[in-house]
Amino acid sequence: MKVKGIKSIAVLTGGGDCPGLNAVIRAVTKTAMNKFGLEVWGIEDGFLGLIEDRMHVLSYNEVSNILTVGGTILGSSNTANPGAYKIRVGKKVKTRDVSAQCIKVLKDHNIDALICIGGDGTMTSAARFAKKGLTVMGVPKTIDNDLYGTDITFGFNTAVNTATEAIDKVHTTASSHHRVMIVEVMGRYAGWIALHAGVASGSDVILLPEMPYRIDKICEFVLGRSKRGKRFSIVVVAEGAKQKGGKMVVAKKLAHSPDPIRLGGVANVLAEQIGQCTGLQCRAIVLGHIQRGGTPTPFDRALATDFGHKAVELLMQGVRGHLVVMKDGKLSSIALSRVTGKIKTVPKNHHLIKAALAVGTSFGV
Ligand code: F6P
Repeated sequence: MKVKGIKSIAVLTGGGDCPGLNAVIRAVTKTAMNKFGLEVWGIEDGFLGLIEDRMHVLSYNEVSNILTVGGTILGSSNTANPGAYKIRVGKKVKTRDVSAQCIKVLKDHNIDALICIGGDGTMTSAARFAKKGLTVMGVPKTIDNDLYGTDITFGFNTAVNTATEAIDKVHTTASSHHRVMIVEVMGRYAGWIALHAGVASGSDVILLPEMPYRIDKICEFVLGRSKRGKRFSIVVVAEGAKQKGGKMVVAKKLAHSPDPIRLGGVANVLAEQIGQCTGLQCRAIVLGHIQRGGTPTPFDRALATDFGHKAVELLMQGVRGHLVVMKDGKLSSIALSRVTGKIKTVPKNHHLIKAALAVGTSFGV
């Protein structure tokens, strides 16, 4: 079936990479070809490829055998923002809105619609394009699971799996050496990865950005375990967690990135502080980008396939400027304009927090 108006679509992957991107590219391309007879273009390196007109028609073979492969065959960029693109003019760097130029590039290739796979930065750009009249559909990606409007993003389940496996390994060495091991996980300003991996690994302390911690409470808890004969403790800390009244630990600021703050290092700060107040040996482990790598879990492969298929279906049904979402176990979509500028954080009354508290986990509060 070919719906009047859309004959050719393009797909891009924006922001940080994430397991399941290739599964979405595959689902979008195969659905578009098999079900609707469309031509599909792959844009290279996210919005950077759109700005620089780097794209090609995807072949069926190119998207075969990529379901289980991590990363993105198209490449990605988390620095190119078409609304505020940095251009070097002589010695100066100027910021320009190149959205109209991007829309022209798509028109020149006779591309009728754009599918943007990404997180909040990508969706902000997608919403701007939708406002300018481009036919756009968003697909929610991020290991952080912080995209507003959807209960879950693909990539999150894989990241939790990776983090949990790593924490399980840390457990045995912590036990052998009677140490406090502090494992830092990603998640930006939301504690979803820390909460899920912390509960799944039976960690003793879970520290979330949403619940600023007190060092004295953590030390009291860890020493209490030692007194009961549990001579080791596992602390899982989200990179965005902070002490009550304190600030998040920033690893670096990237001048040319739309979201310049890169968090990181809170585990090292905690290892020092907990070591001092308990006298116990502490070690910090920062899991970092391994959480974004590897093959997607079966859950993420299925979710990514669902999302990719739905994105094309919705476009062909005439839905425009929306983000595909999973709400209460059902696939649907919401306007991109309702998603941007917000993030989905962990509510303090989340059922997993209640369950963790009930089994004796501390949140350092
Ligand atoms: O949004 C995904 C994420 O991995 C965050 O969890 C992390 O804070 C950030 O990206 C790291 O970004 P970069 O790849 O630029 O270091």
